[in-house]
Amino acid sequence: MSVLVIASGNAGKVREFAHLLESLPLEVRAMPEGLEVEETGHTFAENARQKATAVARSTGCWALADDSGLAVDALGGAPGVHSARYADSDAARIERLLTEMEGAPERGACFVCALAVADPDGVVRLEVEGRCPGTILEAPRGTGGFGYDPVFEVAGSGRSFAEMTKEEKARVGHRGRAFAALEPQLGELFAPEGAAG
Ligand code: IMP
Repeated sequence: MSVLVIASGNAGKVREFAHLLESLPLEVRAMPEGLEVEETGHTFAENARQKATAVARSTGCWALADDSGLAVDALGGAPGVHSARYADSDAARIERLLTEMEGAPERGACFVCALAVADPDGVVRLEVEGRCPGTILEAPRGTGGFGYDPVFEVAGSGRSFAEMTKEEKARVGHRGRAFAALEPQLGELFAPEGAAG
């Protein structure tokens, strides 16, 4: 059975990935402690590729990496790849976003999740991107989720991510969509008679 290392230091993320990959003939492992991975790309896809390649090369195993964030039209795509570093806490990140959006008539935005899978040589073999379009609310709504969830209303739903159940968010959200696109491709790659070694 092939080993797939999740290129993330976040235990919650590793658990979430392991759960989503449950049906595949893969041994899912967390990234070794102390492994530092650079994130210097200008796009989500670039960062996901960078992380997958670095972790595959240093572990000699298959690696899966993700990068995600919020791109706001009126802010030229910001916070984008800097979503996590936009401020020091979720509350501060939301406050900064709402301040920068004050009076903005155009409030379109998109959550993006890029996923990349690299083989043990570090060659990227699969890449997908999941997107969830919506708008930035004038004030937070809802108590679920994390990050920018309370100020992001999902297009066509009338609800913020923070007003949705986990299952609903997984269905319409950027991460769920990226996974839905990746799963059949992973299935092909790791099918018993497949090319993975
Ligand atoms: P990373 O993908 O772990 O590097 O971090 C992405 C950052 O984007 C997170 O720290 C959040 O601020 C934001 N983000 C990504 N996905 C979501 C989401 O589903 N809801 C709210 N915020 C998110």
